[in-house]
Amino acid sequence: MSTSILLIHGFPHDHRLWAPQLTAFGPTYNVLAPDLRGFGAGGPVPEVIPMEHYAADMLALIDAQGTEKVVLCGLSMGGYVALAFLDLWPERVSALILCNTRATADTEEGKAVRMEAARNALEKGMAVVARGMVPKMLCEKTRREQPDLTSLVESMMAEQPPAAVAAASRGMAQRPDRTAMLASISVPTLVITGDADELMPLPTSETMVAAIPGARLVVLPNAGHLSNLEAPDAFNATVSGFLSSLPHA
Ligand code: MLT
Repeated sequence: MSTSILLIHGFPHDHRLWAPQLTAFGPTYNVLAPDLRGFGAGGPVPEVIPMEHYAADMLALIDAQGTEKVVLCGLSMGGYVALAFLDLWPERVSALILCNTRATADTEEGKAVRMEAARNALEKGMAVVARGMVPKMLCEKTRREQPDLTSLVESMMAEQPPAAVAAASRGMAQRPDRTAMLASISVPTLVITGDADELMPLPTSETMVAAIPGARLVVLPNAGHLSNLEAPDAFNATVSGFLSSLPHA
């Protein structure tokens, strides 16, 4: 059976975030790119969804598939979920790809911003929230040179159900600092970021890589927070090289 790759999207996105990777890796690998609970098609959500609950949903998905182990790949909030998953079920992970993410918890100020973001989603609606988020997601060069991608990202965010966005925002505020677990990661690990990611500045990734035994860092030029969409060819080539280096991949 071919290697399974579980792609976990960020906030406030859905599986469409991974369109270039589904195209590139779908024919060769068993690629899973689910919507996190409430995102995409929607559905009922509690007020708060901790990262561990999304991780449990991911476990249920791979259990249902009869998949023993996955290459776990998460972008930003997807990275928080990936680290929660690895913390809880390390035996189900064969390799790890952390994109544009961090292991640290929110500061008190950051937590207050999350509560405000939850309120904004519910009260102002996602069209307004999405418009404000675009400059944080995509670097200036991407926004200037790739207007179609920019519109696509804005509409994907605008289409997310406000209740799901609010629940995720409150859940992210609760997430623990997972820096201490990094030293115990024993699977091959790749960390990818963009050189123009303002949400997760380079030192964030450098610190993670330094803490994870044997981890490798790749910084993609001309890419912001959504490096897999902004520099898809370089991103896919990096992931492809990593996958080929894995035993049985
Ligand atoms: C994401 O892209 O998932 C978010 O930027 C994560 C966050 O807000 O911490």
